[in-house]
Amino acid sequence: MRAQHVSALSVRSFRNIAQADVSLGPRFNVVSGDNGQGKTSLLEAVYVALTSRSFRATKIEESIAFGATQALVRARIDSDDGARWQSVGLRRGGRDLRLDDKRPRSSSEFATRAPVVVFHPGEISLSAGSGAERRRLLDRVALFSSPSAGDELARYTRAVRSRQAALESRGAGSSDLGEWEELSAVHGARVVEARRRALAALAEVAQSTFGELLPEVRFDLVYSATAPSDVADFASELRRSRSIDVRRGSASIGPHRDDLRLELGGKASRRTASQGQHRAIVLSLKMAELAAVGALSSLRPVLLLDDVSSELDRARSTALFSLLSRASGQVLLSTTRPEIIETTGDRVDFVVRAGAISPL
Ligand SMILES: Nc1ncnc2c1ncn2[C@@H]1O[C@H](COP(=O)(O)OP(=O)(O)OP(=O)(O)O)[C@@H](O)[C@H]1O
Ligand SMILES: [Mg+2]
Repeated sequence: MRAQHVSALSVRSFRNIAQADVSLGPRFNVVSGDNGQGKTSLLEAVYVALTSRSFRATKIEESIAFGATQALVRARIDSDDGARWQSVGLRRGGRDLRLDDKRPRSSSEFATRAPVVVFHPGEISLSAGSGAERRRLLDRVALFSSPSAGDELARYTRAVRSRQAALESRGAGSSDLGEWEELSAVHGARVVEARRRALAALAEVAQSTFGELLPEVRFDLVYSATAPSDVADFASELRRSRSIDVRRGSASIGPHRDDLRLELGGKASRRTASQGQHRAIVLSLKMAELAAVGALSSLRPVLLLDDVSSELDRARSTALFSLLSRASGQVLLSTTRPEIIETTGDRVDFVVRAGAISPL
């Protein structure tokens, strides 16, 4: 696996960070500061520069600083092949992506150049929440296992939304519905195939990590599809559900409704798992993402760990320790208590105060 790391980061008008230019170390970067100072925002800026997306479940425009009309994040990435820049400009209603000074062919090309994996407190919803986070996990890994997965997902989303708009404005007899349903089925089936490949890349590490944490229960990951895998059957099932879908306000079948079912001892874990089991599941999925993205891209992912808290129970500190020891690449972590972070090897410390970042 080839190593690469973010050696410099430049941020303008991003959340509460008006302006920052920081040099980062190739191994551990510990970002500390009190609550509400901008630690998560800094990690989020790195994530946006590498993927063009945010990891907070918000619209990307929400990360433009209050009162500003645009934001810019730029990351310099150093590898054996030299240094390059990637940058993301944010405006209301648009993003402007650059790899060095060129526009990438697609946002998937942009997001796969410097793989990054983030672990943040909201991720408990991977195990305990609705399917959205789990679908996003599969779609993120799918970018690396099936290069066209991002485009297929965008095409599917467009087709299924156009069908819904036609249904709602012109009714279940609208003449263009058949075409949208055909397109939804073609691209939807490819999205599902890509997700199944992503799941295959994740499953083994997820199960073995879970087995190390809680060996007494069996952990299974199952793709649960709502639409038939055959394209013609998928399209005809959409046709049959037109009148229901008008009332529902969205298509009742398709990858946007699928789930990655997580099972403990053969039972759906979402509602029945204990807190500790949920945490073990989340950690196992993140370890699996780190391993899968690394293996599929042959690049060592950058790891972002947000909010490494002082009140770690045993399960979480074991979890954190194993994540840190297996992440052999660059790590950026944020904490209110830098003294509890034990690291071996190169370490750089930063402090964030009211959106200003300074090296310690
Ligand atoms: N778009 C925005 N523009 C300006 N400020 C924002 C924006 N969005 C959020 N903020 C503010 O930025 C500040 C820093 O938020 P951030 O989540 O980075 O803090 P943090 O250091 O991670 O805190 P904690 O330790 O509580 O997690 C907060 O006061 C927040 O309200
Ligand atoms: Mg935070």
